[in-house]
Amino acid sequence: MVKKYPTVSEEYLKAVEKARKKLRGFIAEKNCAPLMLRLGWHSAGTYDQLSKTGGPFGTMRFKVEQAHTANNGIDIAVRLLEPIKEQFPILSHADFYQLAAVVAVEITGGPEVPFHPGRPDKLEPPLEGRLPDATKGSDHLRDVFVKHMGMSDQDIVVLSGGHTLGRCHKERSGFEGPWTANPLIFDNSYFKELLSGEKEGLLQLPSDKALLTDPAFRPLVEKYAADEDAFFADYAESHVKLSELGFADA
Ligand code: HEM
Repeated sequence: MVKKYPTVSEEYLKAVEKARKKLRGFIAEKNCAPLMLRLGWHSAGTYDQLSKTGGPFGTMRFKVEQAHTANNGIDIAVRLLEPIKEQFPILSHADFYQLAAVVAVEITGGPEVPFHPGRPDKLEPPLEGRLPDATKGSDHLRDVFVKHMGMSDQDIVVLSGGHTLGRCHKERSGFEGPWTANPLIFDNSYFKELLSGEKEGLLQLPSDKALLTDPAFRPLVEKYAADEDAFFADYAESHVKLSELGFADA
């Protein structure tokens, strides 16, 4: 899809750069990179290409979307960000949440993900039920990512590598534990752990394990486990795509 990014003012661009710096310090200090990445993903991942609704348009600021079951715990991210967002009234919440996710990847050692500003804040939160269900397999992942979000098999696998950061919390999702031994470092250890099988203290969701059994997904898991540079390059590309679903479409 060819993107036609809106032109934003000089003042807006300056605010983006200043906010990026503030976010670097803040996210590092609070050790909250995983939750910020999840916020960006859950904001964008509701996009439905058929109805052209949902997506990264700041609707996560509304309690009604934070209350969706899949978003348990996201209210903490929104609350943490609010004092910084208030310093940049010119920025949309939509841009701010996506910028926080990009910074989260960068400061934990991941690739630099390009960021294009200008997302508008919308008023209508998406319907509940669009984000993937961790108890399901590859058919479900394709239904969510390919049919509704308009993404690809490769996007599914490489973006699942976002689970290199963070962990599951029993009280939020019902699952418990991290995917890797270093959940505050963005690297390719998610894919290495996935291939090496279940391990005491680490977790694999049914949706993660589906990447091993699906004949189209598995070769990509093997590639990213063997080649971190390939993972970073493809991840950055898919993250941009995710963060711009329904945005600047020509
Ligand atoms: C492929 C389908 C996916 C499923 C089914 C899924 C499911 C989950 C679940 C159940 C949790 C645990 C939430 C909690 O208990 O706190 C989680 C956490 C997380 N997810 Fe995903 N996820 C998926 C894709 C993604 C993608 C595409 C990204 C980002 C690129 C991502 C990033 C994260 C991060 C960073 C966390 C950790 C949050 C924290 O530590 O607080 N996930 N995911």
